[in-house]
Order: sequence, then C-alpha cells, then structure tokens
Amino acid sequence: MTGRVAGKVAIVTGAAKGLGEADARLLAAEGAIVVLTDVDEANGRRVAAEIGGDAEFRLHDVRVEAEWQRLMGEVMAKHGKLDVLVNNAGVVEAGNIETTSEEDYRFVMAVSADGTFFGCKHAVGAMKATGGGSIVNMASIASKQGEAYVAAYCAAKGAVEALTRAVAVHCAQSGYHVRCNSIHPAGIQTPMVASIGQKMVEAGLVAQDASSAPSGANRLGEPVDIANVVLFLASDESKFINGTEIVVDNSMSVTAGFVGDG
Ligand SMILES: NC(=O)c1ccc[n+]([C@@H]2O[C@H](COP(=O)([O-])OP(=O)(O)OC[C@H]3O[C@@H](n4cnc5c(N)ncnc54)[C@H](O)[C@@H]3O)[C@@H](O)[C@H]2O)c1
Repeated sequence: MTGRVAGKVAIVTGAAKGLGEADARLLAAEGAIVVLTDVDEANGRRVAAEIGGDAEFRLHDVRVEAEWQRLMGEVMAKHGKLDVLVNNAGVVEAGNIETTSEEDYRFVMAVSADGTFFGCKHAVGAMKATGGGSIVNMASIASKQGEAYVAAYCAAKGAVEALTRAVAVHCAQSGYHVRCNSIHPAGIQTPMVASIGQKMVEAGLVAQDASSAPSGANRLGEPVDIANVVLFLASDESKFINGTEIVVDNSMSVTAGFVGDG
C-alpha cells in the first residue's frame, strides 16, 4: 500500500459523519488502517463499509474511560500498534454563561474535554510502547474568541487546546516520539454546523435561524479542508511539529465573521 500514511494504524473518533468521516476517508485513501469509532452505530458502520479494505467501525463512547481501555486493548491486540489518534468527537449546545444548564454544560464538557483527555491518556500509553505516534485534537476557534452563545463549548475547546500543550511537552520531555497538536476549525459544512442555528432559536438566543437566511458573501468550508490538515499532522511530513495549533477558518477568527471567497 502506498500513500502519505501507508501502513499506519489510525483511530478516528466521531467518524460516523461530518469532519470525522472526512478524516477517516482521507486517511484510508492515503494508506492507513482506520478504526472509526462513534456512538452513532448505523452511520459509523455504513461509512466503514463504504471505505472498505481494512477499515472497521467500533461502537465507542469517548466520555467513558473504560471504553477507551477496551478500544485500545482491541486495537493493540489486532494490529500490534497505534500510530494516529484523531480526537474528533464533539458536541455543541446553545447557551450563554447565564442560560446554560448544568446538564448541557456537563454534556459538552464530557464529550470534548473528558473524551479528549482519556483519548490522549490511553493513546500515549499505547504509542510510546510501539515507537511513537501522532495525536490530533479537534479544538475550535471557540477556544480563541468569545463565542458568547456557546459558552460551554468555549470552555470545552479551551480545555482541549490547553491539554494539547501539556501532552506534547510531556511526551517530548519523556522522549516518547509522540506528537500532539490541535486543529481549530470554523464554519465547515457538517451536521453540527447545520444544527446550531436552530439550537440558538430554541435556546431563545436569536429570533431566527440565520444559517438558513440568504447570505451572498458568506460561504462554508468543506470537511476535506480539515481532513487535509489531519492527514498532514498524522503523516511523518509533520514530524517536527508538536504542541502547536493550526487554525483553519478562512480568516474568520481575525475578521468580524465569515468572508467571501479567498
Ligand atoms: N464543523 C465545524 O465547523 C467545526 C468547527 C469547530 C470545531 N469543530 C469540531 O470538530 C469536531 C467534529 O465536528 P462536526 O462538525 O463534524 O460535528 P458532527 O456533529 O457533524 O459530528 C460529530 C460526531 O461525533 C459523534 N459523537 C458525539 N458524541 C460522541 C461520543 N460521546 N462518543 C463518540 N462519538 C460521539 C457524533 O455521533 C457525530 O458522528 C467536533 O469536535 C467539533 O467541535 C467543528
């Protein structure tokens, strides 16, 4: 098998749709053996079957540490190594700091922050034993700017960003050859982004779902725009990149919002 990640064993969480699906498809196309995980079993199995070859789906809830232990045990038993982990699974709920319920806060934190923490913890253990690897954490520009309408999401992605640095430095100082970097997307066309406008209406934050309003200048990115960066970080082309953040947002975080083609 040839390709930019040929022969690497990769786990992608939240791979049943959206960015995780695109990551899994591109990594497999470039030669990786991909283990897709998600709580959405039907779509996860469908995507794995469409990829074909060595790709497989495993039902896995990133919030539960015991499920990480089981998953790592299964992958190591079958493949003998783990080269790449993409901590992609995430959820968003609408609410500012005054309106967010405890339930929504804990849900959002559990998937993104807890899930990424447990994923890093168990991937480092597996990777250091088999020569190293690359962990890619899916953060957001929500860790960088004040997205007041998704306060819990900002907190969760801030945790992902900070954890990434701690993992990278720990691995470098320990001589593990395990790298850990974060990607900070925004405005990519996925089921999550399609749902946020309606969630804001239901939360009483806006009167109308602006995402469905005509908007000539604005455009969304494609999941492959993120998958290309995941592929680079997963490959040995990025072997000296560790503990860094890559923003992929067509300048959204340095302007007042969406911009047109560019
Ligand atoms: N789409 C964007 O523009 C954008 C921007 C910034 C950050 N992100 C981040 O990228 C990641 C993927 O986002 P997306 O837009 O593809 O979202 P999505 O909702 O389209 O897909 C997320 C996937 O994660 C899965 N998932 C949810 N909870 C899970 C759990 N407990 N365990 C395992 N899987 C679980 C879902 O079933 C789903 O398949 C998320 O972490 C998100 O926060 C996306």
